[in-house]
Amino acid sequence: MGDMTYIKVERDDEVAIVIIDRQDKLNALNADVVQEIGEVFDRLRDDDAVRAVILTGAGEKAFVAGADIGELATMNSMTGVAVSRAGQEVFRAIELFPKPVIAAVGGYALGGGCELALACHIRVASERARFGLPEVGLGIIPGYGGTIRLARLIGLGRAIELTLTGDMLGAEQAQTIGLVSAVTSPDALIDETKALARKITKNGPVAVRLALESMYRAVDTATEDALGFESSAFGLLASTDDMKEGMQAFLEKRKADFKGT
Ligand code: COA
Repeated sequence: MGDMTYIKVERDDEVAIVIIDRQDKLNALNADVVQEIGEVFDRLRDDDAVRAVILTGAGEKAFVAGADIGELATMNSMTGVAVSRAGQEVFRAIELFPKPVIAAVGGYALGGGCELALACHIRVASERARFGLPEVGLGIIPGYGGTIRLARLIGLGRAIELTLTGDMLGAEQAQTIGLVSAVTSPDALIDETKALARKITKNGPVAVRLALESMYRAVDTATEDALGFESSAFGLLASTDDMKEGMQAFLEKRKADFKGT
């Protein structure tokens, strides 16, 4: 993926590490960065050798310090809608990504950067991480799904407070309210996130995908329909080689070797 300006991709066996690298602007999301993030996830979706993705920011200061304010400053009502929709589409594709996506947040995750972390399935933070939605201070609102996803993750009351005040939270506070799963030292962030990814990738890939899909569907679906999907997925898994392998391995007291089929 050497044709990208702002995104680097590293591989560590079955884990892909996607690095947003626009350090002179604290990895702020201009239109090109958003487009490249969309492209990179499109490619990784089809790469069967990749079983999990870690999304992070380059440098020590920022995950992503928000949407590019210089670009936003030029928008009008029509282009504003388009900017919001373009970001929403890419972030939704991350949320619906069929393999686990873990945000490794080592610095500022503000505005669109916080929304990007929210679109990931799991968030790990270093002690240097800072989360916040400062948009109202710029006269706008979060436009990449933040008004929806933050409340779903941490509850409406706290989400309203954070969104209306624009307050920034440190890593520990973020963990206390359930915004992040774990806090690490800055040096250990990527290794500990990889360890978490590997805990997942040793499990059956089809089961992981369908568990994610069932949980996200439940957010948007009436309980009866969500239960119907869960049962169908459960039944579908019974026809996979992975289920046979997982159960056989348990009975034979050995590690399962899942093929994702
Ligand atoms: N959009 C565009 N440029 C941004 C940016 C953003 N969201 N966030 C940071 N930058 C740029 C700065 O303008 C500066 O560029 P310059 O060197 O060309 O002047 C560079 O990144 C470094 O940022 P700087 O503000 O000098 O770093 P700092 O350590 O003093 O402050 C922040 C860090 C994150 C507190 C501060 O950059 C900030 O408040 N950023 C905006 C956060 C925000 O409101 N995001 C939501 C947008 S919707």
